[in-house]
Amino acid sequence: MTPLDYGYLRKLLKDRSGLDLSSDKQYLVESRLIPLARKAGMPGIAELVAKIKSGSDAMTSEVVEAMTTNETFFFRDKIPFDHLREAVLPALVQARANRRALRIWCAASSTGQEPYSIAMCIKEFPALAGWRVEILATDLSQEVLEKSKAGLYSQFEVQRGLPIQMLVKYFTQTGELWQLNADIRAMVQHRQLNLLQDFSHLGTFDVIFCRNVLIYFDQETKAGIFDRMARMLEADGDLALGAAESVVGISDAFRPYPERRGLYRSNPERTARGAAMPQALKMVAAAAR
Ligand SMILES: C[S@@+](CC[C@H](N)C(=O)[O-])C[C@H]1O[C@@H](n2cnc3c(N)ncnc32)[C@H](O)[C@@H]1O
Repeated sequence: MTPLDYGYLRKLLKDRSGLDLSSDKQYLVESRLIPLARKAGMPGIAELVAKIKSGSDAMTSEVVEAMTTNETFFFRDKIPFDHLREAVLPALVQARANRRALRIWCAASSTGQEPYSIAMCIKEFPALAGWRVEILATDLSQEVLEKSKAGLYSQFEVQRGLPIQMLVKYFTQTGELWQLNADIRAMVQHRQLNLLQDFSHLGTFDVIFCRNVLIYFDQETKAGIFDRMARMLEADGDLALGAAESVVGISDAFRPYPERRGLYRSNPERTARGAAMPQALKMVAAAAR
């Protein structure tokens, strides 16, 4: 791959998906895109780049999807799900006792193991029986969303992180695969969504899981996403990040829980809805009070 083609692809990926590649990641791009070029009947990356430059949206999407990392597994890192069961859900059960409804957003949900892990936690939480719990799973990649919707997993995938009792309870074996039972699948809604774009139309949430995606973005992109997410999280709602991610030093829209690693609450000094409100709007809101 020529330095010029690499520069072009780096910029394209940054603009389209937020992926922030350093100058020495040519090998990664080649390892993902040469197979894609061959599949499309092209000799190499130069032809792929030419196709994108000719205005092929389909090829652009394929390149962006091929460069995303979709690694995930059930109950990944365990701790966020302990926080959910031990702190987040008990507090929400009390706070939403009148409404008896919860909205949970799993941003960058990949092939579904994360939103379905959340769904199984909800199912196993007796105090939420009879509540309306909406779990929204979003991802940039249509391909992973399709797999997530099907809820079909290989033996290898169900062996990663899923307790055997839950496999027996919530899955049905179909040939060599395991399918999540319809009641758990029905708890999760899917929608394609690019975190770089406006997501305010999704409404407000009580819990947001946004794990293992922001690590691929630069500081400015992360800060922008944190600010926009803070506006969509209820004032007493919680944000869960991945083990290698933090808001510290990037944004003051959220504050970490001192004893719950990876869990954040909106900064009350920048209230959920005021978080990244333009100054002009803040003045209008203040005048109306
Ligand atoms: C490593 S997976 C993480 C999956 C899951 N959250 C977990 O922690 O196991 C990252 C996911 O982020 C998605 N992704 C990458 N860039 C994105 C963007 N700009 N907007 C939304 N999703 C994105 C990828 O398609 C991929 O499925």
